Amino acid sequence: MKHLIIATSFWLTLTAFAEGPETAVIPPPKEQPVHLDHAVLPAATANPLVWDAMVKEVAIKPMQTTNQFIFWVTNTAKTNVVLQHIQPSCGCTVAKLPKEPWNMAPGEFGPVSAVMNFPGLSGKIEKMLTVYTSEGQQILWLKVNVPLTATTESRRQNMNKAIADKQSVLKGDCASCHVEKGRGKTGEELFAADCTICHQPDGHRAEVVPNLANINKVTSKEYWKYYLETGGPTVMPSFTVAKGGPLSAEEIDTFAEFLNKKFPPKDKSQLKPVSAR
Ligand code: HEC
Ligand code: HEC
Repeated sequence: MKHLIIATSFWLTLTAFAEGPETAVIPPPKEQPVHLDHAVLPAATANPLVWDAMVKEVAIKPMQTTNQFIFWVTNTAKTNVVLQHIQPSCGCTVAKLPKEPWNMAPGEFGPVSAVMNFPGLSGKIEKMLTVYTSEGQQILWLKVNVPLTATTESRRQNMNKAIADKQSVLKGDCASCHVEKGRGKTGEELFAADCTICHQPDGHRAEVVPNLANINKVTSKEYWKYYLETGGPTVMPSFTVAKGGPLSAEEIDTFAEFLNKKFPPKDKSQLKPVSAR
């Protein structure tokens, strides 16, 4: 008798599989004792949202600074599943659901797009998307391999020259881009030619170069004068004629005045706390 029961249930299992993937779902263990930690943290069950891939990896062409990824998702549950929100791990990536929230009917499928930006970077870059759903969170990976191009290579070499001698930016070949365009100009035009070239407001700015609209210090005319005269401690050049730069003492004075108006000084209460090291 016992043999018969075992044989029968074995046969039932086989037919269940034979009917196709729909019925081949592994039933949840019924008789297991429920521990408290199981109740709090349910065992990871597979999310019924199934993606065409959880990781997408792309080899980037030279000069390409952005890539669009499309992930396809299918709701394999017998009930609706809601895709609430999608959160990229970096400001460099913009991800979009077809609608938010996206209430997916059983069997429904559709695309999720993510655009990753990597200007000025090279090598392997990996970013993550966290997908918040009514059935828990899922993680998708975006990976690119950006070849070292002539542009990124020459940028690296220029940086090395500036590290060796920061005044080199204002000399020889470098001057055609870094000095000549600002000659005879003042105010906004001088700023655009001589400063924005390195201090770009967007993601093209090198990592070591700060965003001037976001300086976390109490600034003043004297502060701007200090940077124009000395260039600060690292690779920014001094702009004063005395150090081979394009600006006379008066021009520095007038320009510092302009910058102090362009970037109104913050008072101490507006500064972000600097985390202790
Ligand atoms: C053809 C124009 C051009 C020439 C020539 C040039 N630069 Fe630049 N430089 C730029 C631009 C544009 C940027 C802003 C970053 C970018 O777009 O690559 C920049 C940025 C920089 C930066 C900031 C770091 C960075 O990568 O953004 C440094 C340092 C620098 N240049 C140094 C030099 C030195 C040293 C030379 C000469 C050996 C030089 N540059 C020649 C156009 C030029
Ligand atoms: C060759 C690239 C380059 C150019 C051109 C350049 N800077 Fe800079 N600047 C830097 C770098 C790199 C730093 C950060 C390192 C440092 O402080 O030495 C910096 C720092 C600064 C700071 C300090 C910001 C802070 O967080 O305290 C100020 C202010 C500044 N620059 C103003 C200017 C102005 C104004 C101009 C135009 C006249 C200019 N810079 C042109 C590269 C450049």
